[in-house]
Amino acid sequence: MTRFARHLAHHPIVNPFPGIMKLEAALGHPIRARIGSNESMPQPASPLLQLLGAAGAELARLYPDPYAHALRTRAAALNGVTADEVLFDTGADSLILLTLRLFCNVGDTVVSTAGTYPTLRYFAEGVGAQVVEVDYARGDGLLAPDLAALAEAAQRQRAALVYLANPDNPSGHYHRADAIARLRAALPADCVLLLDEAYLDFCVDEDDAPPAGVLPNTVRLRTLSKAYALAGLRVGYAIAAAEIVAKADQIRPQYALSAVAQAAAQAVLDEPDYARRLIADTLALRARLAEALCARGLSVLPSRTNFVAIAYPDAAVAERIQRALLADGVAVHRPPHAAMKHLLRVTAHPQALDAAVLDALAGSA
Ligand SMILES: Cc1ncc(COP(=O)(O)O)c(C=O)c1O
Repeated sequence: MTRFARHLAHHPIVNPFPGIMKLEAALGHPIRARIGSNESMPQPASPLLQLLGAAGAELARLYPDPYAHALRTRAAALNGVTADEVLFDTGADSLILLTLRLFCNVGDTVVSTAGTYPTLRYFAEGVGAQVVEVDYARGDGLLAPDLAALAEAAQRQRAALVYLANPDNPSGHYHRADAIARLRAALPADCVLLLDEAYLDFCVDEDDAPPAGVLPNTVRLRTLSKAYALAGLRVGYAIAAAEIVAKADQIRPQYALSAVAQAAAQAVLDEPDYARRLIADTLALRARLAEALCARGLSVLPSRTNFVAIAYPDAAVAERIQRALLADGVAVHRPPHAAMKHLLRVTAHPQALDAAVLDALAGSA
């Protein structure tokens, strides 16, 4: 049962600029002369030629396909869903905002984990939702979103939406498919599950296979920022029921995902070995990083992502170490939420293996 925000529920909104591809499909033949979109005429001496090449400069000159048809088809095949169950936008972040806009009225409750990916709260506050947080489950070397607590809070608060990053940022914890199915079943049927799978590409073990296809009343998010190395171009997509995708398409800024970004995303999706190698290299590096940190006596949380989180005895120690690293020009992340200030998050990157950086992380530089 899908419960869109009140103003969207019974009001179809028509995109005034559906783009050339939709026009061509409606006409059944190609457009020969694009003189209706007020784009610039080609300029042979474009300063972009050197930066992007002739094809890139031409992509930059023209409005993109608002519906990213070519990408939807590719992502649908990759995930065993249909193209009308996929929606592209400018990164998973934009899709978090879009999902909140789809389902939240001002004053509605969004349930999340205290200290998880902070963009959820940032955008939820921007749409006037109130965020209710539940604590992480904690144990010896364990920091994991507490699925039972999320479901209980959603029931109690009659939440419009529950957010779960899986794998989680910053803990790195991953809940397997059966746990996600149990969470979905334990939520009120009309409560949307926003399942942020930004790091899912790094879960390569067979046992870690995610739930298949479209889940009921669930918006699953993916990004090309991590395993496809496109963070700067801003490409992500959602997998959801066709009804949700169609409604999202009515309120999304139509031309946000640039033509250059779409072409780059096609190129990396068409070369699966590229992501496969990048993932394998990242996992190997993450293992070496975790090992080197453990060897220095640090408490490293198990991670299914492209980073590791180090748990320090308290926030003051983590802050002191972060400051020392920053003074030396090294940026590691300390989550802003009070519940997570004792963590430092380090990306699996060759520069993290620098002995001086490792020693500084151990507080022994
Ligand atoms: C859990 C999570 N979701 C979403 C994002 C943002 O992804 P994108 O670059 O596609 O906006 C990040 C980035 O770090 C993340 O950690």
